[in-house]
Amino acid sequence: MSPRSWGVSETGEALESRLLNERFYGAGLRFCLERVGSLEGKRVLEIGCGTGDLSALLASRGARVVGIDLCEAHLARARLQSARLGVADTCEFIHGNAEDFPLSDRSLDVVISKSTLQYMDRGRVLERCIRALAPDGALALNENLPGNPFIRVSRGLRSARARLGRDVDYARSIRGYLSPEEIRWLGGRFVRVEHREAHLARVLVSPRRTFPASRFGRRVDVAAEHLDDAILARVPRASAWAWLTGLVAQGPLHASSPSPVDRGAQFANCIGRAPNH
Ligand SMILES: C[S@@+](CC[C@H](N)C(=O)[O-])C[C@H]1O[C@@H](n2cnc3c(N)ncnc32)[C@H](O)[C@@H]1O
Repeated sequence: MSPRSWGVSETGEALESRLLNERFYGAGLRFCLERVGSLEGKRVLEIGCGTGDLSALLASRGARVVGIDLCEAHLARARLQSARLGVADTCEFIHGNAEDFPLSDRSLDVVISKSTLQYMDRGRVLERCIRALAPDGALALNENLPGNPFIRVSRGLRSARARLGRDVDYARSIRGYLSPEEIRWLGGRFVRVEHREAHLARVLVSPRRTFPASRFGRRVDVAAEHLDDAILARVPRASAWAWLTGLVAQGPLHASSPSPVDRGAQFANCIGRAPNH
């Protein structure tokens, strides 16, 4: 989570702009919100809501939101922010585990998650979310994927650090990333699943802090983003090397089937892949 997420002095407009234009997650989040459509009066659950930025944004768009998270410190910040933005009445934050938090069947219009599934038993959490969705409900995921080769190197380095005794908690917390096979499984559990992947080489040419701070760095970053999007639009198989996805699954089919464990499959056969622009 970026340190800026800890700030609670933003206006609602600034929060919206920050989230939707965030360099890496922004594109997937815009995709999810466009596909979900109007949030007015909708019952929304955000799993792993962290400091509640996204929950507050959804509440400011008219949703009645419950955000759950394991971290009390994050939730305290989330409550403070929602109060300051004037959405505390429609934005509740609860300490809970997405794996066993009590949920009534068919009681939610939207379940949303941003960069959380890698910390959870995804099969269990997704199954519970599907059961909790109303028949015309939507699952919206803005999540990390396993296949980007550059990100894999970075993840490998973090694992190596953990073996040396550093960053151990982080390394232990990761339970694997949303796989192409799991996305296909979701395709069989919903009437319609659309997803759009992002970020191939962009993650390499624009290191996080230094390069984009300059005007030249910003230009390189934008060019890399356009190049990645063009490749993803023209070569569907390149999705297997993307870092992030925005996915919206609509119309849950309520008979269950076991979630997959095969992490080696590719995106090529995914249903309903939305064109990248
Ligand atoms: C990388 S942060 C993302 C937070 C927020 N979604 C965002 O995008 O700013 C992951 C969050 O998931 C929460 N988390 C991890 N495992 C969880 C679980 N089993 N149930 C609920 N929250 C969980 C963590 O406490 C953390 O706040």
